[in-house]
Amino acid sequence: MTAVSPPVEAFRAILARPAPFLTLAPMQEITDGAFWSLVHGYGGADIYWTEYFRVHADSTPERKIVEAITRNSTGRPVVAQMIGNDITALVRTARVLQTLPIAAIDLNLGCPAPIVYRKCAGGGLLREPARIDAILGALREAIAIPFTVKTRVGFAALEEFDTLLPIFARHSLDALTVHARTVAQLYRLPVHYERIRQASECMPCPVIANGHVYSAAQAEDVLRVAAARGLMIGRAAIRSPWLFAQIRQHLAGQPVTYPTGRDVWGYIRALWDSQAAFDKPEKARCERMKKFLNYLGEGVPGQFLHRIRRAQTAAEFHGICADFLDHDRPMPLEPLAPEPLAVTPP
Ligand SMILES: Cc1cc2nc3c(=O)[nH]c(=O)nc-3n(C[C@H](O)[C@H](O)[C@H](O)COP(=O)(O)O)c2cc1C
Repeated sequence: MTAVSPPVEAFRAILARPAPFLTLAPMQEITDGAFWSLVHGYGGADIYWTEYFRVHADSTPERKIVEAITRNSTGRPVVAQMIGNDITALVRTARVLQTLPIAAIDLNLGCPAPIVYRKCAGGGLLREPARIDAILGALREAIAIPFTVKTRVGFAALEEFDTLLPIFARHSLDALTVHARTVAQLYRLPVHYERIRQASECMPCPVIANGHVYSAAQAEDVLRVAAARGLMIGRAAIRSPWLFAQIRQHLAGQPVTYPTGRDVWGYIRALWDSQAAFDKPEKARCERMKKFLNYLGEGVPGQFLHRIRRAQTAAEFHGICADFLDHDRPMPLEPLAPEPLAVTPP
């Protein structure tokens, strides 16, 4: 019998436990190893996803993502995500990835970027259910560790999910993450949590709910409405790495603690230290930070984001943070606009 690796064992234990689990969503150019460590320091997710490995006929796994896996300092399992449609290349890559200390391999069926979906990868594959069936069959055969899929609910229409779900159900997946929007919908509201419930009711594996989870109370609502076993959180975790700890507090019936302005300022400084590479000019470091602050800024009242977007130097950048965050008032860091979405009952 082959020994089960510690990350696989940890992943299976998390999926099997009765309590809901929390995962950090894969986000290109955001969720690298440095960001996992930072998030982990604030309580962190139970499971981390890599940015996607681009898979095609000539691809080899991107070194930067491989290093994030081999240097993972969170102590929590990591799932390696692939994007592509070439079965031979996907199988070849899955074999290589299985030599790394990962907990599972995930297939991206949701990316809405035109450059991706037009090549019939990511969300583009949702238009070709028979092709998905063939890819999942080949990958399930090639992957000896857990195999998971992250999908949207259709390409253009919600009804497509009725065709997709039986295909997902056929391939002995270990988990299915559902971002409950169509590809055509991009990131617009509403999120169709009732479609996640549909998956929860018919899939033989745990279903993870994803899409616009932004507060502890709303996380509980989403878990209930979607009947999901776990939550995957993306942009709100950039806005507030405290969210995972807050959700755990709320689910345990404890009052939720919010960071103060100075705590948020400390998080931004830690981001700066971990993300804004020291060998880059100041302007480039500011631009790198704006990738994160575009989300965080949505939770800071006033002209904070407007001013940060114009910052060109470190002095300007940190000066703006001081102007808005040098205080001890609690900050919920929920999106101020557009309006938060109330969870609709099924
Ligand atoms: C900047 C950015 C990059 C993303 N990159 C990926 C990716 O590499 N793979 C993937 O499956 N989803 C990716 N997504 C989608 C997220 O994983 C998630 O499904 C989506 O943001 C909805 O969740 P949220 O509302 O909690 O952010 C990305 C999203 C954003 C905002």
